[in-house]
Amino acid sequence: MTSPLRLGIAGLGTVGAGVVRIIRQKAGLLAERAGRPVTITAVSARTRDKDRGVSISAYEWEDDPVALARRDDVDVLVELMGGSDGPAKAATEAAIAQGKDVVTANKAMLAHHGQALAEAAEAGGAVLRFEAAVAGGIPVVKALTEGLAGNEITRVMGVMNGTCNHILTRMQSAGLPYEDVFEEARQLGYLEADPTLDVGGIDAGHKLALLAATAFGVQVDFDAVEIEGIERITSADIRHAADMGFRIKLLGVAQMTARGLEQRMSPCLVPENSPLGQLEGGTNMVVLEGDHAGQIVLRGAGAGAGPTASAVMGDVIDIARGCRFCTFGVPAATLTRAKPARTATPAPYYLRVALEDKPGALARLATILGEAGVSINRMRQYRHEDSAAPVLIVTHKTTRDALDVALRGMAALDVLASAPVALRIEAT
Ligand SMILES: NC(=O)c1ccc[n+]([C@@H]2O[C@H](COP(=O)([O-])OP(=O)(O)OC[C@H]3O[C@@H](n4cnc5c(N)ncnc54)[C@H](OP(=O)(O)O)[C@@H]3O)[C@@H](O)[C@H]2O)c1
Repeated sequence: MTSPLRLGIAGLGTVGAGVVRIIRQKAGLLAERAGRPVTITAVSARTRDKDRGVSISAYEWEDDPVALARRDDVDVLVELMGGSDGPAKAATEAAIAQGKDVVTANKAMLAHHGQALAEAAEAGGAVLRFEAAVAGGIPVVKALTEGLAGNEITRVMGVMNGTCNHILTRMQSAGLPYEDVFEEARQLGYLEADPTLDVGGIDAGHKLALLAATAFGVQVDFDAVEIEGIERITSADIRHAADMGFRIKLLGVAQMTARGLEQRMSPCLVPENSPLGQLEGGTNMVVLEGDHAGQIVLRGAGAGAGPTASAVMGDVIDIARGCRFCTFGVPAATLTRAKPARTATPAPYYLRVALEDKPGALARLATILGEAGVSINRMRQYRHEDSAAPVLIVTHKTTRDALDVALRGMAALDVLASAPVALRIEAT
């Protein structure tokens, strides 16, 4: 058997401990599959003597992840600390500077620095892999760069934040308001330390930017992702959407159009009987559309020690086998920046407007929509709650630009009790 592949693992939290566990439990299987042993030389984290549920006593300890990355007896840095900058980026750069391969689960770092890191790695003959950074255990990067390599990808979309999907499905099943379910999720430890990363759509936006770059062969452009979180979704929205045969999901969609690359992460309505509509709880789903393969639906655990460590190991074994793939499927130095396009593909929209009890209010609302070129497909007015009556409108297909003209017109009306909510109805 050839020489072992020697790992240095920086970060021994949920994912790092999961990786150590797999390597300890499955050494024989991994060696068979990789064609050589996969071993751990050294590890690093903030606190040395923390119980991590798995023994690390056999490995060298480094306080400094950069020193870990530079060790002569480490072939691959496995970066599992997190954070877009700081020690994660410093250790990754240190490994790459020495021509070492890096496997990371760090979507924040790659969403912000993926292009520069991939270029540096490839210029030095190193490999930088990130399967675990997008949709946890679902091997979506592999699906795009290998299985679907013969296709032109037309659209990628998915539910890629399990916490948001848990909150939305729990609001639906228990009929609870957002605030209560958010608090429940916090107590269950489902939320990041900064919850806006989850409910504000930022974490899922990082993943979408990586997926879009891989799918369309362009530079990662997180700043161009249009992001809206789930904070303004009410249980009434969820109920009304269900009445009309839809479910509300925090959905990421990336699509190349004649006007440029559309990337949006926002709450959307999807048909309740579609695979996305039926996705419950913390599970993730990614839908890939290729010009020859058609639609491929991948569903699985988007987080957690086992699933995420599984994705890390997929990358590690590829490296052990000698697979030298480019980070985003094609050489990073050849990638260009796609022209960002604000959502231009027309779609029907769901609008919730709280109208005050004033004569002619509904007519003024309809006039504003008509003047913006937005036509109404269905409309329902509900009984007054306090002094306002919720009005629900489903529009015919329209552009986001036209809808924004209408929303600006509504903002100037004196009959709205609160700002309207507009959700795209995505064809799935
Ligand atoms: N958790 C998931 O399900 C999941 C899913 C997909 C991707 N990811 C990504 O995987 C990465 C790790 O996530 P995680 O959930 O495992 O995080 P975590 O449980 O918070 O663990 C982070 C680890 O990094 C160590 N660390 C933090 N700052 C450090 C520093 N300055 N120097 C050295 N070590 C440092 C911590 O040390 P101590 O233990 O000593 O504090 C800890 O061991 C992140 O990029 C995350 O976005 C996670």
